[in-house]
Formats: sequence, C-alpha cells, structure tokens
Amino acid sequence: MTALLVKQRLPRAIAKHSQVKSRTAAKFSGAVTSYELHANVQKRSANALFRQLNVQGAKVCLDLGAGPGVNLDKLKRHYDYVLPFDLSLGMLKQNNADKTAVCGDMDALPFQSESFDAVYSNFAVQWSANLNRLFTELMRILKPGGRVYLSCVCAGSLNEIITAFKTIDSQNHVNEFHSFEQTKQFIQHCGFIIENAELKCYQDTYPEPLHAMRSIKAIGATNIHSQNKRQGLLTKSALKKVCDGYPLIAGQAIVSYHVGLFSLQKRAITV
Ligand SMILES: C[S@@+](CC[C@H](N)C(=O)[O-])C[C@H]1O[C@@H](n2cnc3c(N)ncnc32)[C@H](O)[C@@H]1O
Repeated sequence: MTALLVKQRLPRAIAKHSQVKSRTAAKFSGAVTSYELHANVQKRSANALFRQLNVQGAKVCLDLGAGPGVNLDKLKRHYDYVLPFDLSLGMLKQNNADKTAVCGDMDALPFQSESFDAVYSNFAVQWSANLNRLFTELMRILKPGGRVYLSCVCAGSLNEIITAFKTIDSQNHVNEFHSFEQTKQFIQHCGFIIENAELKCYQDTYPEPLHAMRSIKAIGATNIHSQNKRQGLLTKSALKKVCDGYPLIAGQAIVSYHVGLFSLQKRAITV
C-alpha cells in the first residue's frame, strides 16, 4: 500500500497536542498485529453502523480512523470510492489491498470543503482533541445532503479497569471520554440533522483480569495523556493488587464500552 503522508502546518493549539498525537499514533502502530484479534466490540459497533447506512447514489466516502482497514471491503460495496484516513501509518500499512490512503490527524483534516458524500467512522473520534471542532469540520468536508455514520466511545467505558487500578493509586490509567449527552450536544451545535442517536453498552468477557487489561493495550487504548512512560509498567505486587481489585461477574472479567452510535445528515441546499 502507498500511504500518503500529508504534511500540514498545524494550528498552534493543535501543535501543542502533537506529543499526545505522536504517542497515540505510536500506541496504535504498536498494536497493529494484535488489533484485529482483540477488536471484538469494535466489530459489533461497526456492524451496527452498517445497519444504519442509507446510501442513495453516494459516491465518495471517507473512513475516518480507518485503522487496519477492517471496514473497507464492506464500505466499498456501498460507495464507488472509499478513502482510508488514519493517524497511524502502521495501521494503514496493514491494509495491503488499498493503494491509496491518507495518514493524517482528524483534528486537522486536509480536505477541501464539500469533498465527501459520506463519512464513516468506527471507534475513532473519541481520540479527537476537540470533538466540537471535529464535527464542524465534518460538516465542512461533506457535500450538502451528505451523511455521517459514527460510533464514539463515551463516559462509563472501561469502568472495571478504572475500579481495579483504584487499588494502587488515583491516576488515570485509561482515557477519559465525553458523555453521550455531551457528544450529542456537540453534534447539535454544529447543525447536523440527527437521524439516529443511541447509546449501547458492549462487553467483552475474559477468563481473568490480566487478559482483560491486556486487551486494552492490544487495541492501543491505554492512557495517551500519561507523560510517564513507566506508568504502564507495574511491579509484580502492584499488578497482583490490580488483578485482585478487578470486579468479577460470575468469575469472569468483563470490559464494558459505552458506545454512542450516530447517523447524521448535513442539510441539502434548498432553493
Ligand atoms: C480503535 S481503532 C478503530 C479502527 C477501525 N475504525 C475499526 O473499526 O476497527 C481507532 C483508530 O483511530 C486512529 N486515530 C486515533 N487518533 C486519530 C487522529 N487524531 N486522527 C486520525 N486517526 C486517529 C487510530 O490510529 C486507530 O487506527
């Protein structure tokens, strides 16, 4: 695959976040080989989004935060042209079938206004540093009447892991997420017609806490705001405490994701 690395002059506020972005890209690139194996919940939410597709003569679709391209084949059944876009070059390179992809930051979308008939984004926009601005940008790059299908991880997710880590310290070991209501407000504020908005709870089940915690690492979802590279490294006794503090249900370690599913439309121009 030939992935285009788009060099952009970043606005100052975004440049400040560039370290966080590099860490995010590195985490996802590091998770490339294990991602597909562990991305069970992601597959379920991708399918829920596919069930919402309303495609009438739509041609060009952007797969925002495409990752290793797991949704591309299905998207291509609905759209003439699908452009994968992701911050992680490692993720994009996983997809050997596609000759064109764009490696870039969703917080600085390098596209002209009214370029796309649709934007599909599964399990990615929660990584945006400014969700409100991202929705404004999605509105800009969509053609009138264009649609957005997106799933977004919301507050309440990974609560089991947060509980387990409370046994050792009060630091954030996983990312913080906007609430579903807050996400919906951002969307409304940008003027999208909301055709569907629902909050689902998806759960993965593991035989033991250690597996549950490893699954977060395998999908690149550990805390990107941590400056401390050693924070992820626990002593044996700390790890045991965390595992002992993991809330089990019927002896199983659950990982819960609260996911907002949205179908949005940009108003068509009326004369
Ligand atoms: C959980 S994966 C989802 C991948 C795929 N959409 C799926 O359904 O499995 C999230 C993806 O978002 C990408 N990502 C994170 N921050 C991003 C950003 N600022 N701009 C573009 N992509 C980003 C990551 O590199 C990763 O590939």
